[in-house]
Amino acid sequence: MSIELRHDASRPLYLQIRNWFQNQIERGVLLPGARLPASRALAADLGVSRVTVVNAYAELEAEGWVRAHVGRGTFVCDPGRWERSGRDTPYGWESTFLGPSGVSAGGMVSDMLHLAQHPDLISFAMGAPATDSLPVRDFREMINQVLRRDGGEALQYDEAIGYEPLRRRIAGMLAAEGIAVGPRELLITSGSQQGLDLATRVLTESGDVVITESPTYVGALDVLRSNGVRVMGVPVDGEGMRVDVLEKVLSSCDPRFIYTIPDFHNPTGVTLSLERRRRLVQLARQWEVPILEDGVCSELRYEGTSVPSLRALDGGERVLYINSFSKSLLPGIRVGYMVVPRWLRERLVLRKQAADLFTSSLMQRALAHYLDGGRLSEHLASLRRVYRDRRDGMLAGLARRMPAGTNWIRPQGGLCLWATLPEGMSAGELYLAAIDYGVAFAVGSVFFPEDADRSSLRLNFASHRGDVIEEGLRRLARAVQEQLPGSAAKARRPDVRTRERVSITERRG
Ligand SMILES: Cc1ncc(COP(=O)(O)O)c(C=O)c1O
Repeated sequence: MSIELRHDASRPLYLQIRNWFQNQIERGVLLPGARLPASRALAADLGVSRVTVVNAYAELEAEGWVRAHVGRGTFVCDPGRWERSGRDTPYGWESTFLGPSGVSAGGMVSDMLHLAQHPDLISFAMGAPATDSLPVRDFREMINQVLRRDGGEALQYDEAIGYEPLRRRIAGMLAAEGIAVGPRELLITSGSQQGLDLATRVLTESGDVVITESPTYVGALDVLRSNGVRVMGVPVDGEGMRVDVLEKVLSSCDPRFIYTIPDFHNPTGVTLSLERRRRLVQLARQWEVPILEDGVCSELRYEGTSVPSLRALDGGERVLYINSFSKSLLPGIRVGYMVVPRWLRERLVLRKQAADLFTSSLMQRALAHYLDGGRLSEHLASLRRVYRDRRDGMLAGLARRMPAGTNWIRPQGGLCLWATLPEGMSAGELYLAAIDYGVAFAVGSVFFPEDADRSSLRLNFASHRGDVIEEGLRRLARAVQEQLPGSAAKARRPDVRTRERVSITERRG
């Protein structure tokens, strides 16, 4: 490090060090994720006391340029992202989980994405498929073949409803699942997230009520809340949404629709039983409420027999069905679809057009070409094998490492499992400790529309190899041990920020 310090300058040495690092980060010499030298080594290098370096690092951290991890070092953050978010801490975790929330559920999603890129951190936080399972080579071939075949057509403007051969293909896939639709009943969307948004926009106005499971997919909460919708939650148990409670809720409010994830529910992993599906469809008819069914993980079943979708049971009157190729194939191509009832088709297509004109024509064509080649079923079979092994690895690891009082649900499919901490433990506080040990998870409270359970967390079992899962759980177990009520380690452990701020105050005083 060629830091030139001027011992005779009026500017204190710690500020000169701080400024030097800030300058290196701003100029892109030190990139996000880069580790700063250990304070002891840098102090020796520069011929200054260690406290000078510690104070320089503490200033940098207080301003969000770097983040310290106990026992692992100090790392450069992404200051641009932090500035854009307008938050007062680089990750915003404390305000999200521990105090009144100034950060949206969607803020947590972007934080999770950001953290997942941290090189030293094992993240179980995302609801994403495994990067090592994405069929990159196959898809590159598809894109090249489509460009050769269709030329500029593949890169032209297109119809909002979507590429017709792709819609035909999807209609064929759905027929095999008992959903009989023609291509005109399908609307291609940019991921199922857009399906959620379009449905919310055409079915609700600000102030309306929508019913969801509680907990539910955090991205759905974000869409609903950002459209001014009031969300009422219906609890979930081992058989999915409590339809007995739903019945009571329906009699006390006038919801615009019911949003549900019947297969491998995000975040709990549970599957709605057939009996409850029938009752749900019945209730929707009786109360004349549309259902928005989200089938985004439905292809990822590892055991048990599949249960008919609500759309198949209903026959198309009242259920809007959304799905995508994000979990089963490639989230980055952003191709999803909606099965839409006739009475809503026109409005949804117009909404889609207003939102983004159409979904990438090249991606739609490449996907249609991929599906034509019949490769999806082979890919899904391999995914199911890999993810089932990873799920079993995580379940076994949890059983081996977690203290008594920790519970979890064994999912029959999907990507994530839901765990509850021993009595008296907070998942938000555990999160902060876990980050220091180099492991992340999704804090359960953000998935609740109201009355959040603060002791739950969601773990993605699919995205890492078995040995990485094992190491991640080892780190998590250490953080849990430390956070157990009455743990001596918890009492001893100083908060990183508090400790370093104290040392600045002492020096300034
Ligand atoms: C239940 C659920 N629905 C919808 C989505 C959105 O996915 P995409 O827009 O990639 O299809 C997700 C993503 O994690 C999800 O978990």
